[in-house]
Amino acid sequence: MASITGKRLSLHRSLEDQQHQNDALKSRFAQLQHLANMGTASYMIAHEINNLLTPLRNYATLALNNPDDKALAEKALQRVVRNCERASKITESMLAIANGQTQEKKEARLLTLVEEIFTCLCRDFAKDGITVETCIAQDLTVWAVPVQIQQVLMNLILNARDAMLPHGGVLTIKATERSDAVEIEVTDTGDGIEPADLKNIFGSFFTTKTGKNSPSEYSGSGLGLAFCKKIIDGHDGLISVESKVSQGSKFKITLPKPQSGNS
Ligand SMILES: Nc1ncnc2c1ncn2[C@@H]1O[C@H](COP(=O)(O)OP(=O)(O)OP(=O)(O)O)[C@@H](O)[C@H]1O
Ligand SMILES: [Mg+2]
Repeated sequence: MASITGKRLSLHRSLEDQQHQNDALKSRFAQLQHLANMGTASYMIAHEINNLLTPLRNYATLALNNPDDKALAEKALQRVVRNCERASKITESMLAIANGQTQEKKEARLLTLVEEIFTCLCRDFAKDGITVETCIAQDLTVWAVPVQIQQVLMNLILNARDAMLPHGGVLTIKATERSDAVEIEVTDTGDGIEPADLKNIFGSFFTTKTGKNSPSEYSGSGLGLAFCKKIIDGHDGLISVESKVSQGSKFKITLPKPQSGNS
């Protein structure tokens, strides 16, 4: 009898020990998960802010070099302020994504979002021999976190530009409204993507823009499309690509409309 009670007690103790170990492991896992999220957030913020830094420097330089042209300097400085505001919104939104928080979606006019991206880029695409064609109805809206959709489009536009350098080409941004979704296509007439690479491009750190292969002065980090996918997944949407080597690429985004009663 005594031995059964003893066994029970020791079993009970060992269960308690296991429970403590389990709790300790769970709390350690939560800490590590938090650290991993912060790592992702740092990468995302650095990547997206870097996209804004070149235009910021260009606008600031424009203002500095033209102190006598008050109107031009003022306009350039307004753009600097606008880009800084965008940078802080991006930081906020990236931290939220990394922490697994959902941000408030709202109805946003797509054409305005696209126009703002080109303003932020401060780059005359025509100088690179690139014609930009936008085919978006004035009143077309998307149900989205505006700053995040701008990040997606900005990454797609920058990739399209890289693919068309140095010869130039045509960049088309087209949107179509369906009954339950809005489809956005970003098409370029650039280098295209090797069939073997197609399955890798949405993965983190996949880039073909290294050293002398890079069309711009910077090497790629291979994170742009991975972030695009993360953002579009967070909108319950889809992102896909069709591409032909030497002919160009088409990235297609499908953003669902809100269910009735959801807006
Ligand atoms: N429009 C495009 N035309 C041709 N290749 C493309 C296009 N978009 C993406 N790619 C290919 O997909 C790869 C991954 O793109 P992604 O935007 O993720 O990274 P990246 O542009 O190389 O670097 P970054 O992190 O600076 O954006 C590119 O290196 C390129 O090989
Ligand atoms: Mg990119």
